[in-house]
Formats: sequence, C-alpha cells, structure tokens
Amino acid sequence: MGAESNSFRYNLARKSPVLEIVPRRDAHQRSLTNLKPKEVKGSLWTSSQRQMHSLHYAVSYRASFKPELPDFCIRRYSAPGDVVLDPFSGRGTTALQAAMLRRIPFASDINPLSTLISQAKLSPVGLDEVVLRLHEIDLLRPVPLTTYKEMLAPFYHPDTYRELVNLKLAIRNKPDMVNRFIEMIAFSRLHGHSNGFFSGYTFPQISVPPERQRLINAKRRENPEYRPIAARIIKKAALILRDGLSQSFFTTADQAQVRTSDARNLSWLGNNSVDMIVCSPPFLDKVDYLTDNWLQLWFAGINPRPFSDKIFMTSNIHEWRSFIRDVLREMLRVIKPNCFVVIEVGEVETEEGVIKLDQVVGEEAERIKSNDKFLRVEEILINQQSFTKLSNCFQVENNRKGTNTNRLVVLSACPRSR
Ligand SMILES: C[S@@+](CC[C@H](N)C(=O)[O-])C[C@H]1O[C@@H](n2cnc3c(N)ncnc32)[C@H](O)[C@@H]1O
Repeated sequence: MGAESNSFRYNLARKSPVLEIVPRRDAHQRSLTNLKPKEVKGSLWTSSQRQMHSLHYAVSYRASFKPELPDFCIRRYSAPGDVVLDPFSGRGTTALQAAMLRRIPFASDINPLSTLISQAKLSPVGLDEVVLRLHEIDLLRPVPLTTYKEMLAPFYHPDTYRELVNLKLAIRNKPDMVNRFIEMIAFSRLHGHSNGFFSGYTFPQISVPPERQRLINAKRRENPEYRPIAARIIKKAALILRDGLSQSFFTTADQAQVRTSDARNLSWLGNNSVDMIVCSPPFLDKVDYLTDNWLQLWFAGINPRPFSDKIFMTSNIHEWRSFIRDVLREMLRVIKPNCFVVIEVGEVETEEGVIKLDQVVGEEAERIKSNDKFLRVEEILINQQSFTKLSNCFQVENNRKGTNTNRLVVLSACPRSR
C-alpha cells in the first residue's frame, strides 16, 4: 500500500510511517464523510527497532510502552509547541519524548512514584553534579535496623542497607533536582539479577515479597553481599546521560506540568487546554502497581494507603468499561476541538474469549456527550511485531505464535455544530 489520498497517510511500502502532522480539520472532514474507522496494520512504530534516547531507559516500570510509540504518535498528531498530555504517565515515557520533540509535556498518574520518575526525567542534571552530591552525603552513618530485620534483610547486606537509608534521608531533607535525579536512578538499582544492583539476586521487573526472596536465597544458597551504592548510581547515571540533551529540550521541559492525579478527575486542567493526548491505561489484567513496586515505594517514603483504592486494577470487563468511560469524559473536556486522543490497548484473552479493548474504547468514546464536542474513532492502528522478552511485560497472553499486538485507538474531538 502506498501513500493514501486521505489525511492519514502511510507509506508501508517503505515499511516506515510518513511522519507528518495530520491536519486537524482534515480528520474532522474525514469523520463526516466516512463513518467506519479504518484499521491500519503493520510494524508502524517498531519497524526500525532503533534505540531511543538513553534517558528513556533510566528505570523500568510495569507495563510501560516503548518510547517509539509516543514518538510515532506525537510526531503524527501534534506540532511543536503543542501541549501533549499523558494522564497514565507511568515512567514518564510520553512526557520525555514530548519534550524531546519540542512539545510541552503534561503528565499525571495516580501513583506518586510515577510523578517522581516523570519529574526527574524532565529535569536531568549533569554527571558531575551526581558525583559531587554523592560525595557530599555521609552514607556511612549508623542507622537503626528494625525495618531491615522486619523486611529488607533478604534483599540487602546490612552495609548496603545503611547506605540506602542515609541516601533516602538525604533526599528527604533536600529534595532538589540533583537529589531527585539520584533518587530515580536509585529506584532502578534497588533489585535485579546482576552485580549492578544493590540487592542480591532477585527479579528486576517486580519487587517480590520478603518471604519469596528468602526462598530464592535459600535455593541459591546465598545471602546478599555488600554492594556499595554510590559507584552503581554513578555508572547508571553515565549510561542514561550518554546521549546528551539539547538546550531546546530544557527550554521545553521547563514548561512541563507533572501531577499526581486520578485520570477520572483532571481538575488541574481547564476545559480545552491540551492539544493532544497519548496514553496507555491499565489493561484488563493483574498488574499491581503498588505491590510490584513496594521496594521503590519504601525508598521514596511513599505510603500507598491514601491512593491504593484509586489505582485501577480489575479483571472484570464491565468495571473496565465503566472506568474508561469516566476517563474518556475527562479527556473530552480537556482536549481542544479538532485535536487527537490516542489510547493504547491490547487484546485480552478471557475464559469467555478474546476481548478487543479497542472496540470497548471506541464504543464508550462515541457514547459520551458534551455540549460543544464529541469524540469520534478515526482509525485503529495495529502494530504487529515479532515477540520479544520486553514486549511481554503485561502478564497477559496478548500474543500468539511470537506476535505481539498493540492497538491504538485514534479519536478526534469534533466540534458540535450549533
Ligand atoms: C500501562 S501503565 C502506563 C505506563 C506508561 N505508558 C509508561 O510508558 O510508563 C498504567 C498506569 O496507570 C496508572 N493508573 C492506575 N490507575 C489510575 C488512575 N485511576 N488514574 C491515573 N493513573 C492510574 C498506574 O499507576 C500506571 O502507571
């Protein structure tokens, strides 16, 4: 298929999308003339398999999307200077890529851990500042070991724990940009397989419970060894800063807004205040953003109780449908007329069969009513790629025979004629 005549043009013959901005009014015109959304399939944003900016890989996060996805969408559905919102920001992938592309990032998530990560990515500091700050912090002061004995002994050597607690206290006492950047790197080093992590051998993707870690240690016949934290933080900082950052990145990132907020209530945003939304809501699955990140929450000193009932997690399609309806209503309120909302979802296998969440999103989007705008499904982009280890991080069998499918529902906000 070559370039097409309508506003959504691809050049799949070249196996790469034609990265041009979709004129906003064209999308609206299309929706008036052609009511059936088009499905576009291909390796849309994964064809080149290129490595994106090193800062994207600062920290892993459950069910994060590849930076290529927001990169593709932001280039296609927005223009430099636009405000790009992700209300399920996670590890801040959209926000970072928006700033890289000179769009103003607005990001929110109900999980304060996400806010810390997104903010730190948008305010990176120099390697020299990281080194100097770590030198200034007294990591060797004695600390009480009560919490250590209760839950952290299976993960850390007592000397590693002492350094971690001193770093944690230093960040709390002086939460400036340098310390916040160090904190984000520390999140990424808390647990994993290799010697580069602070813990003994454990899972990198999720923080397992202490009792599970005890079993892992017993099976491997090992106890956590001492892992000095400063050298590991510096090594990781050098890695994620290696691609450098332009002045225009900082100018744009300075205008960013990052909040801890429920996507169903974006009261921090006015009506018609954003030019584009791209996001990946929690899937219909069992990713538990609190339990799976409990070591990071401990290190950040975040008490999950106040927001734990707002972190959305269900395996019930009716609950998911109702959640996404509330989210779409808020999106319709904040998006400007003739602008785009792009939502990434997947196919989920249940006992009753495969549920295509893109259909659910489409149905709910077109049902919402507002006085001045309505949402219309413009197209469904289906990205198919060969299965990789990284793409299967949803704990959901949404791939078959080595193919993983992401679906993007592209909605446009059409002005209502009065
Ligand atoms: C699939 S992840 C998004 C990952 C993100 N795209 C990234 O690349 O890191 C879904 C996110 O939704 C957040 N979340 C869950 N319930 C929420 C709610 N009610 N309001 C806002 N965010 C919520 C979770 O904390 C999680 O970060």
